[in-house]
Amino acid sequence: MRTARLTLDPGFRIGDIDRRLFGSFVEHMGRSVYTGIYEPGHPAADADGLREDVLELTRELGVTTVRYPGGNFVSNYRWEDGVGPVEERPTRLDLAWRSVESNAFGLNEFMAWARKAAVEPMMAVNLGTRGVAEALALLEYANHPGGTALSDLRRAHGAPEPHGIRVWCLGNEMDGPWQMGHKTADEYGRLAAETARAMKRFDPALQLVACGSSNAYIDTFASWEATVLEHTYEHVDMVSLHAYYEPVDGDVDSFLASGAEMDRMIDSIVATADHIGAKLRSRKKIKLSFDEWNVWYQSRFPGESALEWSSAPRLIEDVYDTVDAVVVGSLLITLLRHADRVDVACQAQLANIIAPIMTEPGGPAWRQTIFHPFALTARHARGTVLRVEPQSPVLETARYGEVPALWATATHDEESGAVTLFAVNRDRTAPLTLTADLRPLPGLRVAEHLVLDGSGEPAGAVNTAAEPDRVRPVAVDGTATDGDQLTVQLPPASWSMVRLVPATGTATPPAAPAPTA
Ligand code: AHR
Repeated sequence: MRTARLTLDPGFRIGDIDRRLFGSFVEHMGRSVYTGIYEPGHPAADADGLREDVLELTRELGVTTVRYPGGNFVSNYRWEDGVGPVEERPTRLDLAWRSVESNAFGLNEFMAWARKAAVEPMMAVNLGTRGVAEALALLEYANHPGGTALSDLRRAHGAPEPHGIRVWCLGNEMDGPWQMGHKTADEYGRLAAETARAMKRFDPALQLVACGSSNAYIDTFASWEATVLEHTYEHVDMVSLHAYYEPVDGDVDSFLASGAEMDRMIDSIVATADHIGAKLRSRKKIKLSFDEWNVWYQSRFPGESALEWSSAPRLIEDVYDTVDAVVVGSLLITLLRHADRVDVACQAQLANIIAPIMTEPGGPAWRQTIFHPFALTARHARGTVLRVEPQSPVLETARYGEVPALWATATHDEESGAVTLFAVNRDRTAPLTLTADLRPLPGLRVAEHLVLDGSGEPAGAVNTAAEPDRVRPVAVDGTATDGDQLTVQLPPASWSMVRLVPATGTATPPAAPAPTA
């Protein structure tokens, strides 16, 4: 029998969880906005055309912050087109996704949606085809209380209160040659620094994210961050990371080890940022915003140039199976294991586009398989991430070399005393018995053990409009503590969550957030 061990000790901590680790992303792309979160005339739409069924699922998912409006879309976007009377808004070509953009949905509609979804907005400015002046105009329109042309324009547009948007992305993937207005690291670094300096003059409390690399395989990976941070170090708070994972050439073993690759990427960017900090003799630490991550079957996407001009097309609507959900769970474990440096993370995207929530125009909304590990992690990963240091058998993968079969983390909520263990068995061929030493945390009992079993039958099961609940986490009976030890059976290729609560307490799970008026 294969076994692994770890110790749960509140004396060994990685860091407190920034709730923004459970972020998502809404881009003007495909059906993310139109017929995703927004569909006037839908039976579940409210007076603003926002789909209440999607809002409800968003709250259930536990999303805390949402990045908007792109993505590649933002690099050719004029934010002014999306405000004011809807009938006067221009229809434009979106060159990123070769789509026709009606602009019926824009900043003020998004802010209304964010309030109802009880999420913090994370706004991106266009540093592709535009620059400092347009970013400042958007900031003034959005955040200044009133008495200036732009803030009064917002008030005239029906938003009397400033939106108070705190987190801003300085462009998107500016290293990518596919990006409208793509730049060299020096060109972008200068522009981002000047934009950041001016934005912080408006409000020093803003949190600004400089664009990092668009993936870990691009030639300029890490050298891009080094150059950009040389320019921006003292003006920005975070640098972004983007990564998507899929089974390349059907290699599922490496795919199940995607969390190890994400781990390496985070370590590389932390090292790069700290190197620049050391060079600049700075006392500041740059934090990370992993503001695009997910499973994405990119090999099935023919590329932007193959797209025909259309409005809200069905674009990259990947349908996820249980193994995909296990990988999403393992990526969340990686993010938690870096809670000391990753402040923000956004699963890309929220609805329809590579998304946990799917919708049909005029029809239902449902949870994809990947919805479940996200919702459970967002709900139960509370307080501090513990440094668990697992001992585990290793696996050889073609893509990432040797990786531990067990990928795990645990969180400790000092207030309630609850401890939650998240564990993935990456091995497709054998179950794993995990024992956790609980001596430093005496008196805990198992409240719940839920598992997503990627090796279960039928292989490749997915959720659809017709069968929306085919794949759900399954409760495992019999997982228990035995004195000072917890023993958990992890099926092959599975994700587990084990909730431990004080034997004497009730430790009620946290409620979903309430929308604001
Ligand atoms: O999320 C889809 C796209 O992936 C985004 O527009 C872009 O930033 C990334 O390449």
